[in-house]
Amino acid sequence: MCGVLGLLLHDASADAAPEISEGLSLLQHRGQDACGIVTCGPKGRFFQCKANGMVRDVFDEKAISKLVGGMGVGHVRYPTAGSSNHAEAQPFYVNSPYGIVFAHNGNLIDSPSLMQFMDATAHRHINTSSDSELLLNLFANNLQQTGKFRINEDDIFTAIGGLMKQCTGAYACVAMLAGFGIIAFRDPNGIRPIGVASRRNNSGNDYLFASESIVADALGFGEWEDVKPGEAVIITRSGVSRKRVAEHTTFTPDIFEFVYFARPDSVLDGVSVYRSRMAMGDALAVEVDKILKERGMTVDVVIPVPDTSRVAALNLAQKLNLPYREGFIKNRYVGRTFIMPGQQMRRRNVRRKLNAMALEFSGKNVLLVDDSIVRGTTSKEIIQMAKDVGAKKVIVASCAPPIRHSNVYGIDMPSRSELVAHGRDTEEIAEAIGADLVIFQTLPDLIACVRQFNSSIPTFDCSVFTGEYVTGGVSEEYLHQLELLRAENVKNKVVVNSRESKGEGSRVNGFHDQESAIVSSAINRADDTVGLHNTWNIS
Ligand SMILES: *[C@@H]1O[C@H](CO)[C@@H](O)[C@H](O)[C@H]1NC(C)=O
Ligand SMILES: *[C@@H]1O[C@H](CO)[C@@H](O)[C@H](O)[C@H]1NC(C)=O
Ligand SMILES: *[C@@H]1O[C@H](CO)[C@@H](O)[C@H](O)[C@H]1NC(C)=O
Repeated sequence: MCGVLGLLLHDASADAAPEISEGLSLLQHRGQDACGIVTCGPKGRFFQCKANGMVRDVFDEKAISKLVGGMGVGHVRYPTAGSSNHAEAQPFYVNSPYGIVFAHNGNLIDSPSLMQFMDATAHRHINTSSDSELLLNLFANNLQQTGKFRINEDDIFTAIGGLMKQCTGAYACVAMLAGFGIIAFRDPNGIRPIGVASRRNNSGNDYLFASESIVADALGFGEWEDVKPGEAVIITRSGVSRKRVAEHTTFTPDIFEFVYFARPDSVLDGVSVYRSRMAMGDALAVEVDKILKERGMTVDVVIPVPDTSRVAALNLAQKLNLPYREGFIKNRYVGRTFIMPGQQMRRRNVRRKLNAMALEFSGKNVLLVDDSIVRGTTSKEIIQMAKDVGAKKVIVASCAPPIRHSNVYGIDMPSRSELVAHGRDTEEIAEAIGADLVIFQTLPDLIACVRQFNSSIPTFDCSVFTGEYVTGGVSEEYLHQLELLRAENVKNKVVVNSRESKGEGSRVNGFHDQESAIVSSAINRADDTVGLHNTWNIS
């Protein structure tokens, strides 16, 4: 999962970088692994700074002051199919044609055959295993086909239309052409979110592309509009052009954005994430009530697993007329965490981040509400913590159905064998995580919770729950390959992180001579936490 951003200021002599950096920090929850900004300054020169680490660590005053120019592209990265090597931090750049900078959120599912095409037909060198580099080169190759000395909007639309025919998968992208403008496009299924907004200035309009609408709100932009599936949007200093360039589109945004990834204060495709999470709490309450009655069980108190599930937990408690209590207190100032192999270390990780208050648990039947259950290791630890401080019974309610399948569209899920729900029924999941009972939201309820706010969304990508992939073309062999690649990433990350802790890893193409303090403080990683995601206001 990643966050992308593009900004074009009407005033070409102003600098876009400070606002891009500000905007990226609002998208930090979408990726804490690496970040980067490239701006385009006088004479069409690109200025770049990218590195492993959080936005606030990479973009200090000195770094930002060297990023000159009134337009630019930014990216925050959560590793997906590419490795976590900092050479693969985005945005990427290619010089030909025209000078292109590119940032991508998503994942292509046909990268092996595209790699082949690049090599054998397009004769373009791909240096990394990142499908984003592949997508950039596909874009460049299609632009090259126009064969023009200077291109116009129509040429770009044609090129992106060509790209959409050639590749399959999820992609929400922002590109920048030197001295020309910024471009956004979204795959024909609209799986990952992206939108455009504008801000009136005395002299003209500033324009923004961002993964989530919160960036527009915070930077004072209005008139937010989502980029449509299969659509491309081109912004130059003379205005905006939009066009649907894909021949066929079927809108199926990823429902997991609403469950877990997006900030609650964002509105995606007309649906408030916050409202959808409230609805998830209401729907889950009905399910919980039904199952508790069947089992003849009662609950004394509802406690959220911070932070994502709070909104849903509060609604659930109100609906069931049960007290809502904050039983887990988060340690806001916990330092960086490493990818620590082994259960012992994971356990310590959870306890460093959360503390259970005995007075809310002691002698009670507690209902813990979580957004989802992925590996189950964190759930297990949290349940144990609740029992250690005297909980009588621990029941877990999940706002999402059981996650049993891989995500191939850009969310970094562990391999299927590591998902606690894979090959287990509800009873077995409860046993595996040490809960007295586990209650899941049903998939039709989850879909209804989101869709009720925009009924013109025909359906959603729910592949992590169903194993049905909206783009088609996902073979068992591909899933296996993807899992191998990710296992490799986790291994590499241990190396990268341990190097960084010694101050070795650092900004690439550095404008910085001191290589200190670039930390990969992955506080909320899907691979070691469940229910602790989306904690953007950590400090
Ligand atoms: C190419 O990939 C290698 C290996 O990942 C990396 O070390 C190097 O920096 C990359 N080169 C460029 C130009 O990105
Ligand atoms: C308009 O843009 C200029 C240059 O970026 C900036 O200094 C000024 O504050 C802006 N004015 C408004 C009303 O936003
Ligand atoms: C609802 O979804 C449709 C796509 O099916 C989109 O065109 C429309 O803009 C969305 N509504 C709002 C209010 O954003």
